[in-house]
Amino acid sequence: MVATPKIRTQVGIIGAGPAGLFLSELLHRHGIASVILESRTREEIEGTIRAGVLENWTVDLMNQLGVGERMMREGHFHTGITLRFKGQSHHLDMVELTGGKKVTVYPQHEVIKDLVAHRLAQGAEIHFGVRDVALHDIISDRPFITYAQADGTPAVLTCDFIAGCDGFHGPSRQAIPAAARKEFQKIYPYGWLGILTEAPPSHHELIYARHDRGFALLSMRSPEIQRLYVQCDPKDDIALWPDARIWSELHQRLETVDGWTLTEGPIIQKGIIAMRSFVCETMRHGRLFLAGDAAHIVPPTGAKGLNLAVADVLVLSRALEKFYAQGDSAGLDAYAATCLARIWKGERFSWYMTTMLHTDEAASPFEHRIREADLDYVVSSRAAATALAENYVGLPI
Ligand code: FAD
Ligand code: PHB
Repeated sequence: MVATPKIRTQVGIIGAGPAGLFLSELLHRHGIASVILESRTREEIEGTIRAGVLENWTVDLMNQLGVGERMMREGHFHTGITLRFKGQSHHLDMVELTGGKKVTVYPQHEVIKDLVAHRLAQGAEIHFGVRDVALHDIISDRPFITYAQADGTPAVLTCDFIAGCDGFHGPSRQAIPAAARKEFQKIYPYGWLGILTEAPPSHHELIYARHDRGFALLSMRSPEIQRLYVQCDPKDDIALWPDARIWSELHQRLETVDGWTLTEGPIIQKGIIAMRSFVCETMRHGRLFLAGDAAHIVPPTGAKGLNLAVADVLVLSRALEKFYAQGDSAGLDAYAATCLARIWKGERFSWYMTTMLHTDEAASPFEHRIREADLDYVVSSRAAATALAENYVGLPI
């Protein structure tokens, strides 16, 4: 009989998304060993289209970690964003409003590619395609993870700590007893239909549009590919959205300014996402620490999710460094409170951008006017514009 493979490490990381990969990289810099268990293949994680916008400090962190070279070459660095509503376009100059901070568009899957390549080149253990991940003894000081390797062989990973970086649907949060979890949630009546289209960006920076027909967003991935979103019903079947309908809605919602046209191209990918805000304040349970989407979700309008995930693991890596270097567990004890102070501000900003920019059939005419007034205020008051800008480029960490 073949013995079950047993591996031992200091930090067992579940999930090779931005949270797990950044954590492993940061720990490596502090001389702390980690092993990542990821249920998908490398090709899958490197090919999943998600976030686009990196906060200013996330860009700095990638450069500090030595993984920013391709981002600096291929990323789009914008001075600001455009807000479009009531037939007018308003440019918010983020660089000017924040004293030099930029908006960086560099796709999440490219960040993932850069981090995976870097970690593997350093000899990191990333186990792709694992199944049946289960957490054990998390309130002891010898927690362990059981799983099946990609070939189906059962295996065990023992560690000092477990980092649950496995996204909203992963097993880590569920390993905390429901009675011990303090959770908050808001489900929105909006969805986003996102497309990738082979056409050069129709504008040099992002356009966020509020329209009576619903929200629309113009973003980009490369000089040849546009990323576009239209607000839809989150329950819509994608079959209800043939290409012609998507283009028609995008034209109507974005082309509200004289002379500006949206460039069309073949649609190479499309999908619908629902929107929720969610926080599990119980980010630590014994030796298990939750980070990123495993602990909190934001609607994508504020472009915050990936950045919040990276912020969590920065805090966690510093706390673990203190623990291993000095035997000081104060940082670990303060982990949830330290992260939550910033997470709730990210939740607030994402809720604010979402509410202000989307049209809600259930909202009263009064509420519609309030949302328009909010937008009018942002584009007519330097104080309001500054508040939006400092949140958008990223609050201090
Ligand atoms: P994830 O990226 O979800 O990674 C979790 C990993 O864990 C996955 O690879 C998953 O396969 C793995 N996993 C799950 N279950 C298991 C298991 N049982 N065993 C092992 N591994 C497991 N954020 C921004 O900051 N800016 C944006 O512009 C932005 N735009 C977005 C646009 C869209 C359309 C969407 C959907 C999201 C957007 N986000 C944005 C949010 C951002 O993508 C997420 O917040 C981010 O991916 C969170 O990273 P994470 O590492 O916590 O989780
Ligand atoms: C994206 O490019 O995918 C993107 C950009 C800005 C957002 C959300 C998503 O607010």
